Amino acid sequence: MDIIVRENYEEMSEYAAGVIGRFVRNKPYCVLGLATGSTPIGTYRRLIKMHREGLDFSKVVAFNLDEYIGVGINLDVPYEVDQSYARFMHEELFSHINVKKENIHIPDGLTKDPAGFCSWYEEEIKRAGGIDLQLVGIGGDGHWGFNEPGSSLASRTSIQALSPQTLSDNYESFYKKAGVERDKMPHFAITMGIGTILDSKNILMIASGVNKADVVAKCIEGPVTSQITSSAIQLYAGGVTVALDKAAASKLQNLQHYIHIERLKEEYGMG
Ligand code: GLP
Repeated sequence: MDIIVRENYEEMSEYAAGVIGRFVRNKPYCVLGLATGSTPIGTYRRLIKMHREGLDFSKVVAFNLDEYIGVGINLDVPYEVDQSYARFMHEELFSHINVKKENIHIPDGLTKDPAGFCSWYEEEIKRAGGIDLQLVGIGGDGHWGFNEPGSSLASRTSIQALSPQTLSDNYESFYKKAGVERDKMPHFAITMGIGTILDSKNILMIASGVNKADVVAKCIEGPVTSQITSSAIQLYAGGVTVALDKAAASKLQNLQHYIHIERLKEEYGMG
Protein backbone atom coordinates (compact mmCIF):
# COMPACT_ATOMS: atom_id res chain seq x y z
CA MET A 1 0.00 0.00 0.00
CA ASP A 2 1.46 3.40 -0.97
CA ILE A 3 0.37 5.96 1.59
CA ILE A 4 0.96 9.47 0.34
CA VAL A 5 0.53 12.39 2.70
CA ARG A 6 0.22 15.93 1.41
CA GLU A 7 0.07 19.23 3.27
CA ASN A 8 -3.58 20.04 2.60
CA TYR A 9 -6.67 19.23 0.55
CA GLU A 10 -5.43 21.10 -2.52
CA GLU A 11 -2.13 19.22 -2.64
CA MET A 12 -3.84 15.90 -1.97
CA SER A 13 -6.25 16.62 -4.84
CA GLU A 14 -3.36 17.59 -7.11
CA TYR A 15 -1.66 14.30 -6.35
CA ALA A 16 -4.81 12.22 -6.91
CA ALA A 17 -5.59 13.96 -10.20
CA GLY A 18 -1.98 13.36 -11.27
CA VAL A 19 -2.39 9.62 -10.67
CA ILE A 20 -5.62 9.49 -12.70
CA GLY A 21 -4.30 11.79 -15.43
CA ARG A 22 -1.14 9.71 -15.91
CA PHE A 23 -3.25 6.56 -16.00
CA VAL A 24 -5.49 7.91 -18.75
CA ARG A 25 -2.50 9.17 -20.71
CA ASN A 26 -0.77 5.77 -20.54
CA LYS A 27 -3.89 3.75 -21.21
CA PRO A 28 -6.39 5.82 -23.19
CA TYR A 29 -8.84 2.88 -23.43
CA CYS A 30 -9.05 2.47 -19.67
CA VAL A 31 -11.98 1.72 -17.41
CA LEU A 32 -12.20 4.18 -14.53
CA GLY A 33 -14.27 3.63 -11.41
CA LEU A 34 -15.39 6.97 -10.01
CA ALA A 35 -16.70 8.22 -6.70
CA THR A 36 -18.86 11.01 -5.33
CA GLY A 37 -18.79 13.02 -2.11
CA SER A 38 -17.11 16.30 -1.33
CA THR A 39 -13.61 14.81 -1.26
CA PRO A 40 -13.20 14.09 -5.03
CA ILE A 41 -14.39 17.55 -6.12
CA GLY A 42 -10.85 19.01 -6.03
CA THR A 43 -9.53 16.02 -7.96
CA TYR A 44 -12.24 16.42 -10.60
CA ARG A 45 -11.52 20.17 -10.94
CA ARG A 46 -7.91 19.34 -11.71
CA LEU A 47 -8.88 16.63 -14.19
CA ILE A 48 -11.08 19.19 -15.95
CA LYS A 49 -8.09 21.54 -16.11
CA MET A 50 -5.91 18.73 -17.50
CA HIS A 51 -8.57 18.04 -20.10
CA ARG A 52 -8.53 21.72 -21.14
CA GLU A 53 -4.79 21.33 -21.51
CA GLY A 54 -5.19 18.29 -23.76
CA LEU A 55 -5.96 15.19 -21.65
CA ASP A 56 -8.28 13.04 -23.76
CA PHE A 57 -11.11 11.09 -22.13
CA SER A 58 -12.79 10.08 -25.39
CA LYS A 59 -11.88 6.41 -25.02
CA VAL A 60 -12.40 6.16 -21.27
CA VAL A 61 -15.21 4.01 -19.92
CA ALA A 62 -16.52 5.13 -16.52
CA PHE A 63 -18.41 3.27 -13.81
CA ASN A 64 -19.62 5.08 -10.73
CA LEU A 65 -19.67 3.41 -7.36
CA ASP A 66 -23.17 4.16 -6.24
CA GLU A 67 -26.46 6.02 -6.40
CA TYR A 68 -29.32 6.74 -4.03
CA ILE A 69 -32.51 4.81 -4.67
CA GLY A 70 -35.36 7.02 -5.77
CA VAL A 71 -33.29 9.61 -7.63
CA GLY A 72 -31.63 9.71 -11.02
CA ILE A 73 -30.51 12.17 -13.58
CA ASN A 74 -33.14 14.47 -14.92
CA LEU A 75 -31.55 17.63 -16.20
CA ASP A 76 -34.93 19.36 -16.22
CA VAL A 77 -35.09 19.17 -12.44
CA PRO A 78 -33.19 21.99 -10.76
CA TYR A 79 -30.00 21.04 -8.95
CA GLU A 80 -31.40 21.95 -5.52
CA VAL A 81 -34.06 19.28 -5.89
CA ASP A 82 -32.04 16.60 -7.63
CA GLN A 83 -29.26 15.49 -5.32
CA SER A 84 -28.59 12.37 -7.38
CA TYR A 85 -25.04 11.24 -7.87
CA ALA A 86 -25.78 11.19 -11.59
CA ARG A 87 -26.33 14.92 -11.50
CA PHE A 88 -23.31 15.40 -9.24
CA MET A 89 -21.08 13.61 -11.74
CA HIS A 90 -22.56 15.54 -14.62
CA GLU A 91 -21.98 18.88 -12.90
CA GLU A 92 -18.63 18.15 -11.29
CA LEU A 93 -16.93 16.24 -14.10
CA PHE A 94 -18.67 14.66 -17.07
CA SER A 95 -20.10 17.80 -18.66
CA HIS A 96 -16.62 19.38 -18.61
CA ILE A 97 -14.61 16.61 -20.25
CA ASN A 98 -14.93 14.64 -23.48
CA VAL A 99 -16.00 11.30 -22.02
CA LYS A 100 -18.64 9.80 -24.31
CA LYS A 101 -22.14 9.65 -22.91
CA GLU A 102 -22.48 6.00 -23.90
CA ASN A 103 -19.34 5.18 -21.91
CA ILE A 104 -20.73 6.55 -18.65
CA HIS A 105 -22.30 4.10 -16.19
CA ILE A 106 -23.97 5.21 -13.01
CA PRO A 107 -26.29 2.94 -11.03
CA ASP A 108 -29.86 3.79 -11.93
CA GLY A 109 -31.58 4.95 -8.78
CA LEU A 110 -34.90 5.03 -10.63
CA THR A 111 -34.81 1.43 -11.80
CA LYS A 112 -38.00 -0.58 -11.36
CA ASP A 113 -35.93 -3.72 -10.86
CA PRO A 114 -33.10 -2.91 -8.42
CA ALA A 115 -31.95 -6.53 -8.00
CA GLY A 116 -31.91 -7.09 -11.77
CA PHE A 117 -30.07 -3.83 -12.22
CA CYS A 118 -27.38 -4.87 -9.72
CA SER A 119 -26.64 -8.10 -11.65
CA TRP A 120 -26.61 -6.17 -14.92
CA TYR A 121 -24.14 -3.63 -13.49
CA GLU A 122 -21.77 -6.40 -12.45
CA GLU A 123 -22.01 -7.93 -15.94
CA GLU A 124 -21.41 -4.55 -17.59
CA ILE A 125 -18.22 -4.07 -15.58
CA LYS A 126 -17.04 -7.52 -16.69
CA ARG A 127 -17.97 -6.83 -20.33
CA ALA A 128 -15.89 -3.64 -20.19
CA GLY A 129 -12.92 -5.77 -19.12
CA GLY A 130 -13.02 -4.90 -15.40
CA ILE A 131 -12.12 -1.66 -13.69
CA ASP A 132 -8.53 -0.55 -14.26
CA LEU A 133 -8.44 2.18 -11.64
CA GLN A 134 -11.08 2.69 -8.98
CA LEU A 135 -11.22 6.00 -7.10
CA VAL A 136 -12.80 5.75 -3.64
CA GLY A 137 -13.36 8.12 -0.76
CA ILE A 138 -14.19 6.91 2.72
CA GLY A 139 -17.42 7.48 4.62
CA GLY A 140 -17.43 8.64 8.22
CA ASP A 141 -18.47 5.11 9.23
CA GLY A 142 -15.65 3.60 7.18
CA HIS A 143 -17.68 2.70 4.12
CA TRP A 144 -16.63 2.47 0.51
CA GLY A 145 -19.50 3.32 -1.81
CA PHE A 146 -22.45 2.65 0.48
CA ASN A 147 -21.15 -0.60 1.97
CA GLU A 148 -22.24 0.14 5.48
CA PRO A 149 -20.98 -1.48 8.72
CA GLY A 150 -21.87 -5.16 8.68
CA SER A 151 -21.81 -5.53 4.87
CA SER A 152 -19.89 -8.56 3.70
CA LEU A 153 -16.34 -7.86 2.60
CA ALA A 154 -17.06 -10.12 -0.39
CA SER A 155 -20.24 -8.30 -1.40
CA ARG A 156 -21.17 -7.57 -5.01
CA THR A 157 -23.29 -4.70 -6.34
CA SER A 158 -26.40 -4.60 -4.16
CA ILE A 159 -28.99 -2.49 -2.41
CA GLN A 160 -27.91 -1.15 0.97
CA ALA A 161 -29.74 0.70 3.71
CA LEU A 162 -27.80 3.79 4.76
CA SER A 163 -26.45 3.84 8.31
CA PRO A 164 -27.55 6.58 10.73
CA GLN A 165 -24.08 8.13 10.45
CA THR A 166 -24.15 8.17 6.64
CA LEU A 167 -27.62 9.69 6.64
CA SER A 168 -26.44 12.37 8.99
CA ASP A 169 -23.11 13.04 7.17
CA ASN A 170 -24.63 13.15 3.71
CA TYR A 171 -27.55 15.25 4.91
CA GLU A 172 -25.12 17.83 6.31
CA SER A 173 -22.87 17.79 3.23
CA PHE A 174 -25.51 17.90 0.52
CA TYR A 175 -29.21 17.66 1.32
CA LYS A 176 -29.33 20.34 4.02
CA LYS A 177 -27.68 22.93 1.76
CA ALA A 178 -30.23 22.05 -0.89
CA GLY A 179 -33.06 22.76 1.55
CA VAL A 180 -34.35 19.17 1.43
CA GLU A 181 -36.08 18.05 4.63
CA ARG A 182 -34.20 15.36 6.45
CA ASP A 183 -36.88 12.68 6.23
CA LYS A 184 -37.12 13.25 2.44
CA MET A 185 -33.53 12.13 1.97
CA PRO A 186 -33.19 8.67 0.36
CA HIS A 187 -32.53 5.91 2.89
CA PHE A 188 -31.36 3.27 0.42
CA ALA A 189 -28.75 3.09 -2.30
CA ILE A 190 -27.37 0.85 -5.03
CA THR A 191 -23.66 0.35 -4.50
CA MET A 192 -20.83 -1.65 -5.98
CA GLY A 193 -19.89 -4.26 -3.38
CA ILE A 194 -16.61 -4.49 -1.53
CA GLY A 195 -15.87 -7.60 -3.60
CA THR A 196 -16.60 -5.62 -6.78
CA ILE A 197 -14.21 -2.87 -5.71
CA LEU A 198 -11.51 -5.37 -4.76
CA ASP A 199 -11.70 -6.84 -8.27
CA SER A 200 -10.39 -3.52 -9.66
CA LYS A 201 -6.82 -3.69 -10.91
CA ASN A 202 -5.79 -0.54 -9.01
CA ILE A 203 -7.39 1.43 -6.21
CA LEU A 204 -6.84 5.08 -5.33
CA MET A 205 -8.35 6.09 -2.01
CA ILE A 206 -8.53 9.75 -1.02
CA ALA A 207 -9.42 11.37 2.30
CA SER A 208 -9.15 14.83 3.71
CA GLY A 209 -9.75 16.65 6.98
CA VAL A 210 -9.45 15.91 10.66
CA ASN A 211 -12.99 14.50 10.73
CA LYS A 212 -11.71 11.54 8.72
CA ALA A 213 -8.56 10.96 10.81
CA ASP A 214 -10.03 8.32 13.14
CA VAL A 215 -11.73 6.32 10.43
CA VAL A 216 -8.69 6.47 8.13
CA ALA A 217 -6.55 5.04 10.95
CA LYS A 218 -9.11 2.27 11.54
CA CYS A 219 -9.23 1.49 7.82
CA ILE A 220 -5.47 1.28 7.31
CA GLU A 221 -4.15 0.16 10.67
CA GLY A 222 -7.10 -1.38 12.49
CA PRO A 223 -8.41 -4.93 12.18
CA VAL A 224 -9.95 -6.02 8.89
CA THR A 225 -13.62 -6.01 9.78
CA SER A 226 -17.01 -5.70 8.17
CA GLN A 227 -17.65 -2.91 10.70
CA ILE A 228 -15.23 -0.73 8.69
CA THR A 229 -15.81 -2.07 5.20
CA SER A 230 -12.93 -0.06 3.68
CA SER A 231 -10.54 -2.04 5.92
CA ALA A 232 -10.78 -4.66 3.15
CA ILE A 233 -8.07 -2.50 1.54
CA GLN A 234 -5.63 -4.47 3.69
CA LEU A 235 -6.55 -7.67 1.82
CA TYR A 236 -6.25 -6.10 -1.59
CA ALA A 237 -3.74 -7.69 -3.93
CA GLY A 238 -3.54 -5.02 -6.67
CA GLY A 239 -1.81 -1.65 -6.76
CA VAL A 240 -3.20 0.60 -4.07
CA THR A 241 -2.48 4.24 -3.32
CA VAL A 242 -3.97 6.13 -0.42
CA ALA A 243 -3.68 9.90 -0.81
CA LEU A 244 -4.33 11.85 2.39
CA ASP A 245 -3.90 15.36 3.60
CA LYS A 246 -2.03 15.87 6.87
CA ALA A 247 -5.21 16.26 8.87
CA ALA A 248 -6.71 12.97 7.63
CA ALA A 249 -3.38 11.21 8.26
CA SER A 250 -2.95 12.67 11.75
CA LYS A 251 -4.11 9.58 13.69
CA LEU A 252 -1.97 7.06 11.81
CA GLN A 253 0.39 5.40 14.26
CA ASN A 254 2.97 4.58 11.61
CA LEU A 255 2.78 7.89 9.79
CA GLN A 256 6.53 8.53 9.96
CA HIS A 257 7.17 5.14 8.40
CA TYR A 258 4.83 5.86 5.46
CA ILE A 259 6.46 9.25 4.90
CA HIS A 260 9.88 7.59 5.02
CA ILE A 261 8.83 4.97 2.43
CA GLU A 262 7.57 7.66 0.06
CA ARG A 263 10.89 9.54 0.36
CA LEU A 264 12.87 6.35 -0.25
CA LYS A 265 10.81 5.52 -3.32
CA GLU A 266 11.37 9.01 -4.68
CA GLU A 267 15.07 8.79 -3.97
CA TYR A 268 15.39 5.45 -5.77
CA GLY A 269 13.06 6.46 -8.61
CA MET A 270 10.47 3.87 -7.61
CA GLY A 271 7.59 6.33 -7.09
C1 GLP B 1 -20.87 9.03 0.26
C2 GLP B 1 -20.42 8.18 -0.90
C3 GLP B 1 -19.05 7.61 -0.70
C4 GLP B 1 -18.10 8.70 -0.24
C5 GLP B 1 -18.60 9.26 1.05
C6 GLP B 1 -17.68 10.29 1.66
O1 GLP B 1 -21.44 8.30 1.29
N1 GLP B 1 -21.35 7.12 -1.13
O2 GLP B 1 -18.60 7.02 -1.90
O3 GLP B 1 -16.80 8.19 -0.09
O4 GLP B 1 -19.86 9.86 0.78
O5 GLP B 1 -18.04 11.57 1.28
P1 GLP B 1 -17.22 12.88 1.53
O6 GLP B 1 -16.13 12.88 0.54
O7 GLP B 1 -18.21 13.97 1.30
O8 GLP B 1 -16.73 12.82 2.93
